[in-house]
Amino acid sequence: GYLGKNQALPIVIKGLKKLEYRGYDSFGFAVFDKEKNYLYLKKTTKRIKDFEKNIDFKQKGKVAISQTRWATHGGVSNKNAHPHLDCAKNIFVVHNGIIENFEEIKKFLLKKNHQFRSETDTEVIPHLIEEYLNQGIDYESAVLKTLNDLRGSFALVIFNKAEPEKLIGARISSPLVLGVGKDEYIFASDPNAINSWARKAVFLDDGELVVVSPRAYKIKNFLNNKKINKKAQAINFTAIDEGKSGFEHFMLKEIKQEPEAVKNTLRGRILRDKTNVKLGGLEQYRNELKKIEKIFIVACGTAYYAGLVGKYLIQELAGIDVEVEAASEFRYAKFIHPKNSLVIAISQSGETADTLEAVKLAKRDGVLTMGIVNVVGSSLSRLVDFGVYTYAGPEYAVASTKAFVSQIAALVLVGVFLARQRKMSSVQAKIILKELASLPEKINQIFEQEKTIRALAKKYAKYKNFLYLGRKYHWPISLEGALKLKEIAYVHSEAYPAGEMKHGPIALIDKNFPTVVLAPRDSVYEKIISNLQEIKARHGKIIVLTTAGNKELAKKAEAVIYLPKTLELLQPILTVVPLHLFAYYFAKELKKDIDRPRNLAKSVTVE
Ligand code: M6R
Repeated sequence: GYLGKNQALPIVIKGLKKLEYRGYDSFGFAVFDKEKNYLYLKKTTKRIKDFEKNIDFKQKGKVAISQTRWATHGGVSNKNAHPHLDCAKNIFVVHNGIIENFEEIKKFLLKKNHQFRSETDTEVIPHLIEEYLNQGIDYESAVLKTLNDLRGSFALVIFNKAEPEKLIGARISSPLVLGVGKDEYIFASDPNAINSWARKAVFLDDGELVVVSPRAYKIKNFLNNKKINKKAQAINFTAIDEGKSGFEHFMLKEIKQEPEAVKNTLRGRILRDKTNVKLGGLEQYRNELKKIEKIFIVACGTAYYAGLVGKYLIQELAGIDVEVEAASEFRYAKFIHPKNSLVIAISQSGETADTLEAVKLAKRDGVLTMGIVNVVGSSLSRLVDFGVYTYAGPEYAVASTKAFVSQIAALVLVGVFLARQRKMSSVQAKIILKELASLPEKINQIFEQEKTIRALAKKYAKYKNFLYLGRKYHWPISLEGALKLKEIAYVHSEAYPAGEMKHGPIALIDKNFPTVVLAPRDSVYEKIISNLQEIKARHGKIIVLTTAGNKELAKKAEAVIYLPKTLELLQPILTVVPLHLFAYYFAKELKKDIDRPRNLAKSVTVE
């Protein structure tokens, strides 16, 4: 949403383009020209770049709302795209989230003869505001009343033609930021979309409503109707790096940034003598962390797999019991936690609804919470008690890559911090931290095999099913490899802890069902080689990843990818890199839309 002194249309279109990377299936906007009392509205299932020629940029108007939609209620169609409006076509609403009680509200509104034009949950909002206006309530009170009737999650921007010098934003459980420029304001779900106009922003919190007018904004808590004084804070956008820098896809660019991402996570955090780490966020909770006896890690997707690596890491380094749970399931099992517990939430975006909800539950139970988050200022970073930013830099491809390696690097730092508070000696810390600092260079060595990996992906692109196997640190990495192939190549791939294979999945193996075996020379090497033999005995094709210099697998597998040698606990950061490249070139061979895979969104802000 935009309200200010400039023409709104090009501003919101540029903003939408910056949000495109989050994944969407349709978009729409409404621009209002006060002088002519004319509202220019468009909705389409086309991509912004394909639809741009149909947009009349001569249309004037200094206020606009717009949205990129990722369908939840109602199919992907022009009529379901936002903005949605009331019967009288005065109230316009864009929404991110889900209105859980929309059916109940719709029933009530239908009885009052409201006419609906879409199948969405969102459309109840403009009609309900209209209903309250019809009852004689003033506009702001009607919005307030409506917000209190809604259940679920929402970030909303609302425009009323009858009060064109006002734009209203509100949120619960979905991100919303208000960029504050000189006599102009811009609402967005992500600060990336506002950085061309505003150097200052107000991050709205749950239950907050903001009314913007040409020269001021006022905030209140719509749940208790109390005024809130919140100043816009300066945002440092200097690190924003938006282009593809000559790469065909953001995903490839971001894989190539993996060494830099790890470097950025480590920067300034390893003491010069390498005997310990320095993590600002953790310092202030040093005493509490000393007492921690149990850790719960919550996260989703790729971040969840980083969490699984974290379990092996922290248990080995610090001797603290770690449980890892997909954030979307965390709430369902009764949360039983000993007195000195810590919940660690991992997220690239910091906006994943499931992860935020898991943290809220932990906080309600009075448990200490920590975040490992990439996006500075995101909802998660503000919700947790303290945390560690990964500083991987902006990640635009829907498939997460550089964020993953930086999450594991951050977990190593946290593991060493906790371990040094316990039994780890300075000598042990030195060995780990010295090796950790050398990983960016070792990732670069893997890129030397890019051509081989590309050729391999090309050769295997005809197969429709894949199995990924790993043990210990590499079981989560097998999950990550398989997920990448699913998301961007739309190829069925399953991951298993290698020891579990004989308990069922081995039935799938034949010459048309290749297996990717993760077998660096580590403490479980011999065991996984036995699993590899079991596949070979059943004529399964095998791609194996192993440590450089290991010659014995060349005859046992169809293809071998070599990994630089490192410590066992750091190896996952290296092993995942060829898997990211393999999935990328596989999807490229199949000519898929790599950066924007179908059905997916970058930030999953709905439960
Ligand atoms: O932003 P988050 O790290 O919280 O996102 C979690 C998942 O949605 C995300 O990792 C997803 O699985 C990616 N598409 C994986 O590539």
